[in-house]
Amino acid sequence: MDWGLRNRMSRILQPADGRTVMLAVDHGYFLGPTHHLEKPAATIAPLLPYADAIMLTRGVLRTSVNPDADKPMVLRVSGGTSVLQEDLSNETITTSVKEALRLNAAAVALSIFVGARHEHESIVNLAHLVNEAEEYGLPVLAVTAVGKELEKRDARYLSLACRIAAEHGARFVKTYHCEGFHKVAESCPVPLIIAGGPKLDTDLDALEMTRNALEEGAVGVDMGRNIFQSDAPAAMIQAVGKVVHEDASPDEAYELFRELARETTFA
Ligand code: R5P
Repeated sequence: MDWGLRNRMSRILQPADGRTVMLAVDHGYFLGPTHHLEKPAATIAPLLPYADAIMLTRGVLRTSVNPDADKPMVLRVSGGTSVLQEDLSNETITTSVKEALRLNAAAVALSIFVGARHEHESIVNLAHLVNEAEEYGLPVLAVTAVGKELEKRDARYLSLACRIAAEHGARFVKTYHCEGFHKVAESCPVPLIIAGGPKLDTDLDALEMTRNALEEGAVGVDMGRNIFQSDAPAAMIQAVGKVVHEDASPDEAYELFRELARETTFA
């Protein structure tokens, strides 16, 4: 691995433990003004100090993140379909590698839609992006997207999708946690991080999912809604960080969450 590529990866996967807490705020690229992300700058600023990296589009990066921010940015570079379509798989590369370099991105991210109508295009998009980005030492994060078919999130499907992503050159892969997740992790030769998915019933549920994913082979999270849609987002990201970086149990992390949330309420 070239020095530049290793250096970028090590800004995302923390050298001390090889893990990461990425904050995902790229939802608007197909969902528009997502709940609690209506004003991205207001959502991002209080969470930034606790994130190891931020995943976002160039539009949100330019408008809503202070350029002084000393955090690695993982730039979503695929898109082209909105939530109004039944099939979300018709994505292409929407942001060039040159633009990613100009924005000083630490990595670029693109979705693949295995088994969907536009499976072929999305996998070829990944391969082309890897070809170009790696010329400049820019790592590619592949996202195993399921569109509206959330029921696809099982170990058999995700193992297939993650492996395909790695085989095409993704340096790390973002997927979902599922029952039997260890099978997904064992058959994927690059680091896996998990998305949170739609907001779970409780904050403790999200902490438990994080703990389980780590125990089964994930190296961290790229979590959005289960953080920024929490009633106490800054407390929640710190609690997730305690699980990821301090090996805290979900109960210990939840205790921290409650303490921090109380402080915020009475501040
Ligand atoms: C979805 O397509 C986006 O890539 C999100 O970044 C991803 O789903 C992670 O966010 P969440 O934890 O809200 O699922």
